[in-house]
Amino acid sequence: MHTRLLSTDDQGLAIACDWLSQGDVVAMPTETVYGLAGDARNATAVARIYEAKGRPSFNPLIVHLPDRVAAEKVAHFDDAARALAAAFWPGALTMVLPLREDAGIASLVTAGLDTVALRVPAHPVAHALLERFGGPLAAPSANPSGRISPTAAAHVADTETGLGGRIPAVLDAGNCPVGVESTIIGWVDGRPALLRPGGVSAEQIEAVLGQPLTRPAINPDAPNAPGQLTSHYAPRASLRLNATSVAPGEVMIGFGEVAGELTLSASGDLAEAASNLFDLLRQADATGRPIAVATVPETGLGAAINDRLRRAAAPR
Ligand code: TXA
Ligand code: MG
Repeated sequence: MHTRLLSTDDQGLAIACDWLSQGDVVAMPTETVYGLAGDARNATAVARIYEAKGRPSFNPLIVHLPDRVAAEKVAHFDDAARALAAAFWPGALTMVLPLREDAGIASLVTAGLDTVALRVPAHPVAHALLERFGGPLAAPSANPSGRISPTAAAHVADTETGLGGRIPAVLDAGNCPVGVESTIIGWVDGRPALLRPGGVSAEQIEAVLGQPLTRPAINPDAPNAPGQLTSHYAPRASLRLNATSVAPGEVMIGFGEVAGELTLSASGDLAEAASNLFDLLRQADATGRPIAVATVPETGLGAAINDRLRRAAAPR
């Protein structure tokens, strides 16, 4: 199969919608990372997503919707969920909520759970596609399972490190502005919990909720967010964290005052660093050399960046 790059104009969106209506998959840009979209109501389409990614079937998918009204038809929202939706949608927040029985979502999307992960993306192309398609789109990040997430159409279409040759099309909208996946919030024993740090910081969410988020213990055998699989976002090369200088043979990724051959953000800007993260990991990996990364502070978006770096560095 040849993977086509589609323009994001009317014609490109029409072709993408045709594929989706036929139960096929299309990669779409979102403000966080590119997603591999399929009709969330169509079990065959959802099976194609899992197949193209080589994804373990216990790992459920995020359902993308055009707005909060559409989202409330899929899951039950309480006051806290409504407050978060009002504050952060459209945007880089995913909420795991009780699934409505009449939602019509294929059970493969939720891997049989009675909860569903929902997100209203802010990217204009994702929004236009959702409006035009007129249904919920299941979309995990558009990378082979366990590999580095894609923040450009070329990452998705790469035949070696991406899904090139395994999916029909990618809507090409250039680089993803946020660069790390959405923050996932769930409710554990009735309390709001951070299941995956991401593009909206925990501090921002806690400010809206007026209470701290719990951080559930990680159980690698029963992951309730993907990030909980220990080795994830994995480059092929080894990765050394908190490097203050480069060792012989290494390729260094700098941050702030710690310089490198590649740099997340020379000025120490965490948003810039997040948007560069996955592309720089790919560039570093392409050198075939071991990778060293400078320390990134744990505040704000730094929590999501460090989460991805720790997973990329985890033994596998
Ligand atoms: O930014 C993002 O979130 C991107 C873009 C494409 O929207 N999507 C993304 O999807 O990162 P994915 O599949 O790579 O990660 C979503 C994770 C799943 O792996 C899963 O562990 C968690 O969300 N999840 C989905 N449904 C869940 C549920 N019902 N309960 C707990 N966790 C769930
Ligand atoms: Mg992913």
